[in-house]
Amino acid sequence: MSKFLLIKKKILKFNKRISVSGDKSLSIRWVLLASQAIGKSKSYNLLMSEDVLAALESIKKLGIKVKVHKNYCEIHGNGINGFKYKKNLILNAKNSGTLGRLILGMLVKSPHKIKLIGDKSLSKRDFSRVTIPLEKFGANFNYKKKNRLPLTILGSPSVKGIKYLESKGSAQCKSSVMFAALNASGTTSIKAKKSRNHSELLFKYLKIPIRITKTKKYDFLNIKRPKKIKAFNYKIPGDISSSAFFIVLTILANNSKLLIKNVNINPSRTGIIIILKKMGAKILLKNKRNYRGEKISDILIKSSNKLKSINCPTELNSSAIDEFLIIFLVAAKAKGISYFKDVSELNQKESPRLNWGSKILNMMGVKTELTKDSIRIYGQPNLKIKKLITIKNYLKDHRVFMMSTIAALTCGGKWIIHDKDSINTSFPSFLKIINEIRN
Ligand code: S3P
Repeated sequence: MSKFLLIKKKILKFNKRISVSGDKSLSIRWVLLASQAIGKSKSYNLLMSEDVLAALESIKKLGIKVKVHKNYCEIHGNGINGFKYKKNLILNAKNSGTLGRLILGMLVKSPHKIKLIGDKSLSKRDFSRVTIPLEKFGANFNYKKKNRLPLTILGSPSVKGIKYLESKGSAQCKSSVMFAALNASGTTSIKAKKSRNHSELLFKYLKIPIRITKTKKYDFLNIKRPKKIKAFNYKIPGDISSSAFFIVLTILANNSKLLIKNVNINPSRTGIIIILKKMGAKILLKNKRNYRGEKISDILIKSSNKLKSINCPTELNSSAIDEFLIIFLVAAKAKGISYFKDVSELNQKESPRLNWGSKILNMMGVKTELTKDSIRIYGQPNLKIKKLITIKNYLKDHRVFMMSTIAALTCGGKWIIHDKDSINTSFPSFLKIINEIRN
């Protein structure tokens, strides 16, 4: 398989129906929580991407039995902190911040030192954002290089509930502390800036004692250690973050229509839909239903040729956090100047995405004004690219690859996009679905 993708032609008009693979956040959370349950849990439509495989591999190394079948995955949990492993264990979170940060929460009682490593991209990301609160539970951490992987964790035999303020709007930080709370005596109280709430919904479904009160900006969680977690089966819905690339492909294509079946539309994840609708996109949610606290629907998208700029409300930032790259592409084709502010967290992702978003738009001939935490995009509704654009050295960030592919298919020019295998992190069937839509 060639390592780069070459695109020379824009996508032609299409009218298709697709499904995307399972939600990554829910897949990783299912793996980790099933490892803490007692007995056999099953999941259907589990995302089989490298991030989730790394989660399965990690719990296997911690002594949990995992079986991957053709249509489902089985995990035999041994209860909370029921891990059995030898000394000098090394866990590899590979590219996954979610796995690296959440699994540390589950290890606050580990009796032996465990080393956590990751790939080049993950080893550039900050881990103090979770090790600081986890230290308050009693866990001990050692870094070789300040706040970066590899690190070692040594748990504490007596873990007590803490008070924690999560002020970044990071679901990874919130969930890491929530997972630690499963081991803690007393109450863990969290005041968290709004972020995705899959962990809360799963805790509720699993009858883990959790009380939640909400204000406009913050959620307040009170969690008590459960006696046990019962094994549970779960059918993972489609990932809105993967759908996002096809939503934008359709919006920017000519006279096209797409139906994406069975997508998780948890309101803490649907910022992209609100933002794109404000910009004039035609998106319809059909066949809405509930599943274990999560909302699911089909998404119908039609091409739009009258897109307008947006001054993006900051309260939508956390619910669109993984979609900004692809939203920037829509802004590049919209009439007027779009403005996104308080988005410095984007530079904390698999690659510095705020910088990459700006750089790619500039390569396309679109003017941007970039600061540390904001971007202005000067939209060009009639943008036509005629040159060669090469995308490389982007730390194999899956979302940079997929955004570039959609740009190439909708804006023209000749594109060489390196590191095709980056999609395996979150969406291995991305190019296969592109080909289905193209034919
Ligand atoms: C995730 C939370 C987000 C998101 C990541 C997945 C999760 O990160 O960017 O892709 O599953 O909790 P932050 O919580 O750090 O913003």
